[in-house]
Amino acid sequence: MKISVVGTGYVGLVSGTCIAETGVNVACVDIDETKIEKLNNGIIPIYEPGLEDIYKKNVEKGRLEFTTDLGASIKDADAVFIAVGTPPDEDGSADLKYVLGVAREIGKNMDHYLVVVTKSTVPVGTSVKVKQAILEELEKRGEKIPFDVASNPEFLKEGSAVNDFLKPDRIVIGTESKRAQKVMQRLYKPFVLNGHPILFMDITSSEMTKYAANSMLATKISFINDIANLCELVGADVDNVRRGIGSDPRIGNKFIYPGTGYGGSCFPKDVQALIRTADEFNYSLDVLKAVEKVNYRQKEVLFNKLYKRFEGDLKGKKFALWGLSFKPKTDDMREAPSLVIIEKLLEAGASVAGYDPVAMHEAERILGDKISYAKDEYDALIDADALILVTEWSEFRLPNFRVMEKLLKSKIIFDGRNIYDPEELAELGFEYFAIGRKTK
Ligand code: UDX
Repeated sequence: MKISVVGTGYVGLVSGTCIAETGVNVACVDIDETKIEKLNNGIIPIYEPGLEDIYKKNVEKGRLEFTTDLGASIKDADAVFIAVGTPPDEDGSADLKYVLGVAREIGKNMDHYLVVVTKSTVPVGTSVKVKQAILEELEKRGEKIPFDVASNPEFLKEGSAVNDFLKPDRIVIGTESKRAQKVMQRLYKPFVLNGHPILFMDITSSEMTKYAANSMLATKISFINDIANLCELVGADVDNVRRGIGSDPRIGNKFIYPGTGYGGSCFPKDVQALIRTADEFNYSLDVLKAVEKVNYRQKEVLFNKLYKRFEGDLKGKKFALWGLSFKPKTDDMREAPSLVIIEKLLEAGASVAGYDPVAMHEAERILGDKISYAKDEYDALIDADALILVTEWSEFRLPNFRVMEKLLKSKIIFDGRNIYDPEELAELGFEYFAIGRKTK
């Protein structure tokens, strides 16, 4: 089989590379010439564990290639995947100009039956627009080439995207023809040998599934964050409450860890987009509106604790900040809680020494000289008035507190992910602040 994947961001690159792994010939397409040149020279533009190995292997085997030529990439292809970005526009709805632009290019260039698969996260109803755009281009050419559209949302987590693709919990595919279903079934069969299902459904339900999944997950996070804040007020410990509720399988113990609010490229954008979609149908998604509100508030919780501890006097103070990416195992800083905390600290006249195991370059690109960049986690602590832990990288879990107390100006830790033991820190003489826990 042969496929084309348009868009070499996280989704496109991971999908293309993993599909090549099954023996399919894959052409990855992007309009960004420098990106394609890099990919043709062995340089992967993103950090994603495990990706480099299978990328190299499949390039060597001649099954994975990179090109800017969309037209050539769909010659002899069985399917073309649209995996370009859908950034939010000013009002929060997803901007479809890239997706529809690709659809038009496909319409201009196709010369045989193709399944056109939307993999980007797109608002409900987009596949109809994709179909329309292709039809219009074919009409302009005076051609009547058959094709089908399909929706195939991704559920990849950054940091474990390769594993998620190779061993999915489920694959959701929206189609409207048996012919397209057959092509998709063939492509995805190698990934469900572990018995997990391929769920075929109508296109609208498939589009909706993606938003409902991410919104449900975001809801879990805002819910536990709200509970954590209340735990502090009533004197409970959210860590106990989390374990207490998580052992009920109806609730489940995953995705109920409190923190500094969800970030990343998906949850904030998708929650907003679904609220917008509902608004267009004059329906108010009140639960999700609250989820969003709670998340904004949560991103400021750690700063507020710090502000209170220092009685508002942050001018001239220096803070060490561990973890800049929006979560561990990625260099992605989109909507990262660290950015909100840094902005607030700078506004208050404090300075920040940041450290992150992989996001240092990305941080420099975004923040420039607004903060200083430490060599390692201990370097960041030198003369700092406190440590603020924002992202729970595993290398931060068991630091040497004896070394830390020598480097820090004052023995204070603000832990945004509850990774330390309050009792241990109290014994060591640290002042410890966490989210929703009993600390002294
Ligand atoms: C998410 C979805 O998980 C994935 O299925 C979808 O395809 C894209 O969006 P991702 O953005 O990579 O993936 O991150 P994820 O691991 O889901 O975490 C999202 C945010 O939630 C992070 O900021 C994380 O720190 C936060 N989170 C997660 C919590 O605060 N508590 C939790 O218990 C879990």
